[in-house]
Amino acid sequence: MDTLTTPLGGGQPLSHQKGAGTQAFGTLKQLPIGLGHDTRMYACQRLNRVLADTQILYSLYKKHHWLMRGATFYSLHLMLDKHAEAQLVIVDALAERVQSLGGVAVGDPRHVAELTAIPRPPDGVEPVPVMLYRGSSTHTSGS
Ligand SMILES: [Fe+2]
Repeated sequence: MDTLTTPLGGGQPLSHQKGAGTQAFGTLKQLPIGLGHDTRMYACQRLNRVLADTQILYSLYKKHHWLMRGATFYSLHLMLDKHAEAQLVIVDALAERVQSLGGVAVGDPRHVAELTAIPRPPDGVEPVPVMLYRGSSTHTSGS
């Protein structure tokens, strides 16, 4: 069979397909990396919680970046964006570590919301000192 003309071998997307998943969240692939199943499972569970918290922290920094106001707007606006970018680097490292352990990294924001330990802030705008306190206390609280 010609692999260039078959649906799976031609490099074309399978449009309108809804197949079964290939790995469920919370399960591990077998990998020859020298770590036992229980160790990898524990690490993936903990890393996914930190990954969820880090994604929430990224979003919190971006929200505060957008909502910043007042006389110190510009410096705080830039600083909060820098912190957000730093979180994205960490998010990627954590997710790829989960994958390298055979797990499934949490990615969908709705799933992230289920796993995070960070309390949801108000949807509206808070005073600048409250936003800054919320950001710094969330960043240092850990999970
Ligand atoms: Fe921006």
